[in-house]
Amino acid sequence: MHRTTIRVFLYGAYWLAASSNASHSAAQSATGAAAQLVAQAGVLVIAHRGDSKVAPENTLPAFASAVQAGADLVELDYYHSADSVPVVCHDADLDRTTNAVSLWGGSKIKITDKTLTELKLLDAGNWFAKRFTGTHIPTLAEALDSIQAGSTTLVERKGGDPAACVELLRQKKLLDQVVVQAFDWKYLAGCHRLAPNLVLAALGHKEFSPEKLDEIAKTGAAIVAWEDRFTDESTIAAIHARGWKAWVWTVDQPQRVAELVGAKIDGIISNQPEMTRKAVLAAQAAR
Ligand code: G3P
Ligand code: CA
Repeated sequence: MHRTTIRVFLYGAYWLAASSNASHSAAQSATGAAAQLVAQAGVLVIAHRGDSKVAPENTLPAFASAVQAGADLVELDYYHSADSVPVVCHDADLDRTTNAVSLWGGSKIKITDKTLTELKLLDAGNWFAKRFTGTHIPTLAEALDSIQAGSTTLVERKGGDPAACVELLRQKKLLDQVVVQAFDWKYLAGCHRLAPNLVLAALGHKEFSPEKLDEIAKTGAAIVAWEDRFTDESTIAAIHARGWKAWVWTVDQPQRVAELVGAKIDGIISNQPEMTRKAVLAAQAAR
């Protein structure tokens, strides 16, 4: 065999081995509470940005309501503030879910351009309903304390590096108690290198393909969470064939919940955890 061909062959074999090791270690060697929750049979109900139809998304009232509703996991999104504190918010700018525009003037002010002290001046509840006035943007640490008191946090990284997230979870002794997800699969791989037992979910959107699953295999993820409109029975089966759990986002129709239960989904991310729980139970009872 030609030397270059041998090198390409060995490189390919290395990646195959690395990929299979990554998925194996995350899915099969983790034994903490989060790994056990994810591994269990049945369909997990995951509250998207908290109980976000009932309370302002990504705030402590939304997380408390999701815990109260019995969500198996409670999802949130985080960035880093200008002074490097992980803070919880979905959008990159503060316009939609805070009073930043009226308080500071201008628009499209980035959450990453403000310090924690500045962000804590904002109201993050009044836009949703008057009774939530006085609700603030939580830090990731505050959100973790709130959710972990009665459920399991699904931490979605929107901005920030793996080391900061892993260090916070390590300090709070939560490395094996939460699930971390991201659309950025390199971020997940970085988390996996730093904390091999951290349970990871690879988020995907748009068209599903085996090539994308090949990339996910390099991350150490144990879960693939795909966009609902590109998820069907065959995509779920393809994820299961790799030994991973299949989750879907974001589902708010009972009929669609029933279809996904029939298609053997493992986790449903929804803005309405209470409705989703009822629809899952009804679909299971009807089978
Ligand atoms: O949990 C998945 C879902 O949250 C991803 O989309 O934009 O709501 O963060 P997004
Ligand atoms: Ca999210």
